[in-house]
Amino acid sequence: MNTSTADPRLLGRKVRRIVYTEDILAQRVRELGAEITAYYPEGDLLVLGLLKGSFIFLSDLVREIGRPIHVDFLVASSYGDRTVSSGNVRLLYDPETELEGKHILLVEDIVDTGRTLSRLMDLLQARKPRSVEICALLHKHIATELRYPTRFIGFDAPNEFLVGYGLDHAENFRHIPYIASLQ
Ligand code: IMP
Ligand code: MG
Repeated sequence: MNTSTADPRLLGRKVRRIVYTEDILAQRVRELGAEITAYYPEGDLLVLGLLKGSFIFLSDLVREIGRPIHVDFLVASSYGDRTVSSGNVRLLYDPETELEGKHILLVEDIVDTGRTLSRLMDLLQARKPRSVEICALLHKHIATELRYPTRFIGFDAPNEFLVGYGLDHAENFRHIPYIASLQ
């Protein structure tokens, strides 16, 4: 795609570089779906998408999972308009489904400091699921605060602020179909 011409979705901002194209994303999401399908034994699998950032990734991912699943969401408070994590994590929407005895796969867009995920994992573990694993599309590998392993990772992301494919900056750019860093 031509990024030298103005993309009306970018609010006048310019792409510094496209980090993951649509094709690369689709290919990796297919692989992740296959990994997840192969990983889980029998039993109920609940795929929990962490909103809002995971909404596009989740919708593509679940269609690549070749076993029965249920899908629900978690809403946690986030960065707001800032690009720095506050570490203040609150649950704004809690899944209505019973978690006890189920395999839970928590789907996240990107692991940065890992604060959000650590808090959420603590909350989920307390509900006695059969297992809880994390699937993150992107991992910046600077997560000093994540006390849980990330079982499924799409890409090792560069330490740049990324937008698109669900990732936002001040709620903008979530609908851009590729992942880019902006100038
Ligand atoms: P953490 O608690 O610091 O790991 O924050 C993770 C959350 O911050 C993610 O779910 C994203 O919503 C947001 N975030 C972290 N890095 C980026 C980025 O590069 N672009 C957009 N959002 C990001
Ligand atoms: Mg998020």
